[in-house]
Amino acid sequence: MNTTADAIAAIKKELGRDLCIMGHHYQNDAVIAHCDISGDSLELARRVPHIDAAHIVLCGVYFMGESASLLAREGQTVHLPEPDADCLMSAMIPVRLARRVLEQLALTGRDIVPVAYANSSLAVKALTGEYGGAVCTSANAEIMLAWAFRRAEGVIFMPDKNLGHNIANRLGIPENERHVLRIDGRGLIEPASQPLDRKLLLWPGACSIHARFRPEFVEQARSRYPGCRIAAHPECRQEVIALCDAAGSTSFLIREAARVAESAPGSALVIGTEENLVRRLAERHRDKCDIFPLSHAICPEMSKVTEEKLLNVLEGIAGNRSEPLRVAGNLFEPARLSLTRMLEVCGK
Ligand code: 13P
Ligand code: SF4
Repeated sequence: MNTTADAIAAIKKELGRDLCIMGHHYQNDAVIAHCDISGDSLELARRVPHIDAAHIVLCGVYFMGESASLLAREGQTVHLPEPDADCLMSAMIPVRLARRVLEQLALTGRDIVPVAYANSSLAVKALTGEYGGAVCTSANAEIMLAWAFRRAEGVIFMPDKNLGHNIANRLGIPENERHVLRIDGRGLIEPASQPLDRKLLLWPGACSIHARFRPEFVEQARSRYPGCRIAAHPECRQEVIALCDAAGSTSFLIREAARVAESAPGSALVIGTEENLVRRLAERHRDKCDIFPLSHAICPEMSKVTEEKLLNVLEGIAGNRSEPLRVAGNLFEPARLSLTRMLEVCGK
């Protein structure tokens, strides 16, 4: 008998409709098993406004909890089993630096709108809202960048340069219309020497987990599994995505696995993203097709959330001891605006 799982089940029963447990697809199987809702970043954000439960527990990284807090109803509380789990990429864009760069870009006199990847802090989302921009996720980055280009002549996309390049490729924005900003601790390095007149300006951040995948991994997978299909998350480098057959958000990759299992039984699918998800898909479809990870890739931050920590936070909620996530008052409205703009553009 798994006592942790049983204890969680007992608290879920006790709290009933007062509790909703949400989990990102990168959570491990033991945690996912307890989630009432699992999804990619977009689906998790979309579902929050429709949840009636008084308490939401978000199994994922910090920015996902912040987004849930922004979209929660008044009086609803959001709790994180592990508040120290923080997306490594979101840490690559300190808000003070982002503000300085936006100020420097404003000095050029160009009309530039920011688009912030959901994997960023609440303060960066607030700054984005303040500057008339919006948030996006990997599932809707193409729609949101197209939206931004209808509003301004230039866009700064932050902080994931790889996602930015991949979306630019889909939108047909050539390389010579993009520029990865050169930034140091004080802001843009010698702004006059940088091509800031380009259509798409990219913050020089990346996910160190997805950036690990290299083009030769794709080539090796093709010779190891002849005839295989390869799909990857668009946080991978553009050179990797160029060699893949498909790319998309974690939910896209889940749909892709189901599609391959149904339409091409006996075939092989190689997936380039976090391994907890790839292993789950391999297990789910093992009777129909073979699913392999492109390479070893575990997100250490997502892995900080465990079944034990989930139990701990649930015990705190049941005992009225759990400290909910709190959003700084002055950031709430502008950050919420940048998120609701995304939901409005993409349909709630
Ligand atoms: P999704 O938006 O596809 O869920 O991805 C979030 C993420 O952190 C990927 O590394
Ligand atoms: Fe952040 Fe990368 Fe982990 Fe996703 S996989 S949560 S982008 S560090």
